[in-house]
Amino acid sequence: MNIQPEFSPLSEEHIRGCADLFAQTFSQPPWSEDWTVELAHKRLSGLFHSAGAYGVVALVGGLAVGFALGQEEAWPGGSQFFVQEFCVHPNRHRSGIGTTLIREMEKALRNLGVRHLVLVTAQGSPAQQFYARSGFSVAEDMLVMSKELECNKN
Ligand SMILES: CC(C)(COP(=O)(O)OP(=O)(O)OC[C@H]1O[C@@H](n2cnc3c(N)ncnc32)[C@H](O)[C@@H]1OP(=O)(O)O)[C@@H](O)C(=O)NCCC(=O)NCCS
Repeated sequence: MNIQPEFSPLSEEHIRGCADLFAQTFSQPPWSEDWTVELAHKRLSGLFHSAGAYGVVALVGGLAVGFALGQEEAWPGGSQFFVQEFCVHPNRHRSGIGTTLIREMEKALRNLGVRHLVLVTAQGSPAQQFYARSGFSVAEDMLVMSKELECNKN
């Protein structure tokens, strides 16, 4: 039986472990993205040090088995929080860790005056079902747009 994790605010000391977890999780289906631990570390460290950053980590024996990280942003009528990254170790999916991460994050964000959470995920993904179960709904009046650039740097 898996040991139950402890949940705490994400701090600098957790970034390396979260980067390992992140690279491992998002390299696997359904995402199958081309992450290295270094690249994941660069992304998470950049997010963590940005203005308004807040995260929660699930730890077992000091090792990260899940985390959520995002940013509080100024918005009319009360700030909003953009959930930038969210993952749970593949061996521990469907054991309630994601749900507890959301709950702990929401508890802290309410105290900071956040009124609105937003995120981007893949349509039809298991993550969409998870977020729906956690109370998120699809914003029918919004869409994500993107544009490719031919960049001059390899
Ligand atoms: C999405 C993710 C964070 C969910 O975390 P989790 O700890 O497994 O979720 P929970 O155990 O709290 O699940 C709560 C509920 O969400 C739904 N859910 C979670 N994973 C699901 C899946 N793969 N398929 C369908 N529904 C799912 C279920 O309703 C589940 O309740 P149940 O297990 O009683 O049926 C996790 O699967 C993950 O890290 N996936 C890979 C990374 C990822 O997709 N991150 C989000 C990118 S935007």
